[in-house]
Amino acid sequence: MAATANLSYRPSISKTLTHPFRRTPILPLKLTKPTSKPLSLKAVLSQSSATKAAPKNTAPFNHCFTKSGDGFLYCENVKVEEIMETVERRPFYLYSKPQITRNVEAYKGALEGLSSIIGYAIKANNNLKILEHLRGLGCGAVLVSGNELRLALRAGFDPKRCIFNGNGKLLEDLVLAAQEGVFVNVDSEFDLENIVAAARIAGKKVNVLLRINPDVDPQVHPYVATGNKNSKFGIRNEKLQWFLDAVKAHPNELKLVGAHCHLGSTITKVDIFRDAAVLMVNYIDEIRAQGFEVDYLNIGGGLGIDYYHAGAILPTPRDLIDTVRELVLSRNLNLIIEPGRSLIANTCCLVNRVTGVKTNGTKNFIVIDGSMAELIRPSLYDAYQHIELVSPASSDAEVSTFDVVGPVCESADFLGKERELPTPTKGAGLVVHDAGAYCMSMASTYNLKMRPPEYWVEEDGSVAKIRHAETFEDHIRFFEGL
Ligand SMILES: Cc1ncc(COP(=O)(O)O)c(C=O)c1O
Repeated sequence: MAATANLSYRPSISKTLTHPFRRTPILPLKLTKPTSKPLSLKAVLSQSSATKAAPKNTAPFNHCFTKSGDGFLYCENVKVEEIMETVERRPFYLYSKPQITRNVEAYKGALEGLSSIIGYAIKANNNLKILEHLRGLGCGAVLVSGNELRLALRAGFDPKRCIFNGNGKLLEDLVLAAQEGVFVNVDSEFDLENIVAAARIAGKKVNVLLRINPDVDPQVHPYVATGNKNSKFGIRNEKLQWFLDAVKAHPNELKLVGAHCHLGSTITKVDIFRDAAVLMVNYIDEIRAQGFEVDYLNIGGGLGIDYYHAGAILPTPRDLIDTVRELVLSRNLNLIIEPGRSLIANTCCLVNRVTGVKTNGTKNFIVIDGSMAELIRPSLYDAYQHIELVSPASSDAEVSTFDVVGPVCESADFLGKERELPTPTKGAGLVVHDAGAYCMSMASTYNLKMRPPEYWVEEDGSVAKIRHAETFEDHIRFFEGL
């Protein structure tokens, strides 16, 4: 790949990128993918050294980002390299809007025949344009802060399809939730006290669900497990009666409408949902037996995705819903689910440029412009995200094992370890896949690397900016007038 030449490539259409909020396509590219080949040899090779935990069960891999027969990476039908050369700044996040739609449709199809709310977990990705799209597709929203609630309202979500979660909800945020009429999950004794206070301040009764800790082991990384005994979230089941009595004691402030649990994230076994649902409907029976008219079962717990790109067969939304369908119908309940990752993660790549390649001791490094500041999951959870080059390497490029690292002044600043890749040239494009969830929403400005811009490829193959890059001037603004 002619990487150095790429650095100076400036298509004339780049001028159209200067308008920050345009809804119209900025890159009216309509490129056709020459052939569709699910995975290039290179992509397969790059898995091999880091897939110790990769599931064995394999199937043809189907993704909105695909390597074609020409060796270039495409997002839908648009060449990622061309987008990369056109945007104002790298690294940047690149999404497929049609893939977001497809992911929502998969949940909607799975939920047919049930009364349900797909509560998109805004914490996974809070881009306003994405939220508006998800709302347009019929999603509700799951919120964990007052600002997420404000953003959901800004994006037009129906507050009656929003659920406010959290173990440390602030009184002022609860007041807003009460005013807007969103569902609130009760997480503790003090949380209940605050919800009662918020209802009084707002002058409105709050629809609450009890977040019961089901004590189910989701078999995931401890940082993303939420429903086991020692988790900070939810109430212990043996305290259920205390909470029911407390709700009864506040008939003007609280209306108990359901029960909630959340198991954890990256779940790959749907039996866990079934186990939790069995427990939860038993609680619902117990609650109803005391005269409460509870209609909602909120089963939170996020499906994992195929981060390894090794063709793992993971549970689909249909698998998930089918394991709880009969239980939900048997009690005539409305089902609330809270997906974040499985709706948005696989719709996006972080697109980076290679700054250089170096060797120290026994290690080879590909140094890119992206870093733990833009994408922290590998540093934080030791998470694997698939990495590949966006264009074919030259025939003499040696395939080696590299750590892919950023420029941040931390040894923890890596995007991938021990990846087998062709030695890239300076300026080559390199993507970190499955970056739609818990990447941009966790990005920081560490080392004053300002947050990157975001783009998406639309249904007609055009590319639009959906978030501005942050600038140095944005940072300086925090100190103005002090
Ligand atoms: C309460 C709650 N709801 C929803 C989610 C979203 O989960 P996921 O992104 O795995 O689908 C989480 C994530 O941890 C959560 O804690």
